[in-house]
Amino acid sequence: MIQFCFPTVYWHFSIGQIDFDNLGNKCLINTEWNCKVKTSRGVEYKWNQFLQTIQPYFLQLPYKKQGSLNFSEPWMNIYEKGCYQEPHHHISGGHQLSYCYFSKLPEGSGKFGFWNEQFRNYCSNELYDIMNLDTVEWGFPDVKAGDLLIFPSFLIHQVTYHSLDESRVTVSGNVKMIVNDDGGDTFRYGVNDSVPGGLAEYCEIDLLEISKGGVVGINSTKPYCGS
Ligand SMILES: [Fe+2]
Repeated sequence: MIQFCFPTVYWHFSIGQIDFDNLGNKCLINTEWNCKVKTSRGVEYKWNQFLQTIQPYFLQLPYKKQGSLNFSEPWMNIYEKGCYQEPHHHISGGHQLSYCYFSKLPEGSGKFGFWNEQFRNYCSNELYDIMNLDTVEWGFPDVKAGDLLIFPSFLIHQVTYHSLDESRVTVSGNVKMIVNDDGGDTFRYGVNDSVPGGLAEYCEIDLLEISKGGVVGINSTKPYCGS
């Protein structure tokens, strides 16, 4: 019986539709990017509501150290007909987790896919050609509009060619984990006893910075289109 070791970890949640007002109309083609994807990067937008909506799902993830999550400023991308995204990762900036929320995903849209890094090894000695290994180079999660994928920032991913007239819209972002120095081993993500109200205050580092008009954790290195 065939068995598989080393599966790729990611998390998939169905969280429903989120209203972004008219942010989509403000997205523009980024002249620094060599692609036609429209993005909200550089557009002022209050992300607090969106972040507060997705944060509970991050708090469901399994942690083994205490600490906090620092959400950098998200960005919306709009894929119109002919757009795609080359393979890339999100590790610059020191993030551990990244995510993609699928706001609009008409049937037949460009697909979000994770790269199976081991696939090239199977091909390197013709093993893949000779045997039936039931493995693939790209894994495409079965997502629909309103879904959220959370994944390790190092995972290489892409968006395939979008051939529809109707736009594909996603919101992506990165999360940096800040581990408490006290070395505790209880799961305290999501709990801040000193601040009533719970979640929004829990990620207070970033939310407060954003509310002040500043942003922490932005990837300011060479830009990519993102997904
Ligand atoms: Fe991406």
